Amino acid sequence: MPLYKLPRGTLDILPAEQVYWEYVKHKAIALCQLYGYQRLDTPAFEDFNLFARSMGEGTDIVDKEMYTLEDKSGKKMSLRPEGTAPICRAYLEHGLYNLPQPVRLYYFATVFRYERPQAGRYRQHYQFGFEAIGDADPALDAEIISMTWHFCLSLGLKGLCLQLNSIGCKVCRPHYLENLKRHYSACLTQLCPDCKARLIRNPLRLLDCKKKSCQEAIETAPKSINYLCQECKAHFESIQRYLELLGIPFKVSHRLVRGLDYYTRTVFEIQSPGEGIQNALGGGGRYDELIEELGGKSTAAVGFAAGMERIILNLKRQNVSIPALPRPSIFIAYLGDEAKAEAIKLAFKLRQAGIAAITAMGGRSLKAQLRQANTFGTSYSVIIGEDEVKSQTVALRNMTTKEQKTIPSTKLEELFRRD
Ligand code: HAM
Repeated sequence: MPLYKLPRGTLDILPAEQVYWEYVKHKAIALCQLYGYQRLDTPAFEDFNLFARSMGEGTDIVDKEMYTLEDKSGKKMSLRPEGTAPICRAYLEHGLYNLPQPVRLYYFATVFRYERPQAGRYRQHYQFGFEAIGDADPALDAEIISMTWHFCLSLGLKGLCLQLNSIGCKVCRPHYLENLKRHYSACLTQLCPDCKARLIRNPLRLLDCKKKSCQEAIETAPKSINYLCQECKAHFESIQRYLELLGIPFKVSHRLVRGLDYYTRTVFEIQSPGEGIQNALGGGGRYDELIEELGGKSTAAVGFAAGMERIILNLKRQNVSIPALPRPSIFIAYLGDEAKAEAIKLAFKLRQAGIAAITAMGGRSLKAQLRQANTFGTSYSVIIGEDEVKSQTVALRNMTTKEQKTIPSTKLEELFRRD
């Protein structure tokens, strides 16, 4: 029995699963290249206050879900619970504001949240995100949203729903929140205990509650889009016009508020069909105050992040066919010590010529070696025995037809070279 187990809420991504991960990463990188986004990687841990300041105390993530520790110098550090704040920190730290704006960036990041694990919800998950920093143009919101849509379609996912909302800015949101609180105060007795606490600490999140008892209050709640100031209203209308122009279907949802405090104006989410948290494939929005909050000049920005595990879960659920990963072309089997030395030499030579080859190991029977070749899925096996060593040849076996012929070993490179 193994002594240790996988930590709760984490995943081992086994070789058989990697085909999905490679597929999604490949599509993500191709997308970013198409839209002119450049990669920026940040560390897995940062100063606790970076996250506390950006996501807001009073959010579940900051209050309950961060993995925080004091390092040996007594500094409070947190494992990254999301990717946007670190990107903004790096934007400021490396003076990316000196570049022509907006700066378009993307990242892959392991993200840590101490949540209750369930299907599609982990304590360590992996995000693909992109951020455009340095412009308030609604066309940039539309670019980020269209990229999100394009990404999901390019993966082959079907039946997606794009939800959109505007939660206003620091000018118009306080007035909206007052009205929201007034509405909720009038139906306090129906609310779940969490919502009673949200009413004081984070009223926007009242709209996000999934409990049955709170649904009526949500349905009858005032809608943020009816309280937008002129600028926010015009901004929201422009985004919708751009999306219509691009033929991207969306649904305005007044319940959509998102779980992080830094959002201003635009918020959006992409969902796959069906119920449950695993359908929230990704989400994003505008965060025009975040860079200033982190010590920079007032800088508008907008971005999105998707959960890779949820995307993969939905690819499997929708039976999307995924191209196989490239496999070595040749498996090299041998019989005897002399042949083994030849096999090792041949494999090295083939690999140097750019031909992927894999050798048998140990002293197994030929039958066992060929069985292993089958599990690797190589199309051909090369068999080297005593006779082949003497005659500088190999037996080349087609693993599908089982046909076998003897050829000079020097011919192999020529036969398998792709170009
Ligand atoms: P988020 O909605 O908290 O946004 O996370 C983005 C996505 O990560 C979610 O839609 C979901 O697919 C996935 N996700 C979140 N938590 C978990 C979990 N515990 N297990 C598995 N997957 C999860 C953000 O993090 C923002 N930084 C997005 C953003 C970028 N906004 C602007 N720019």
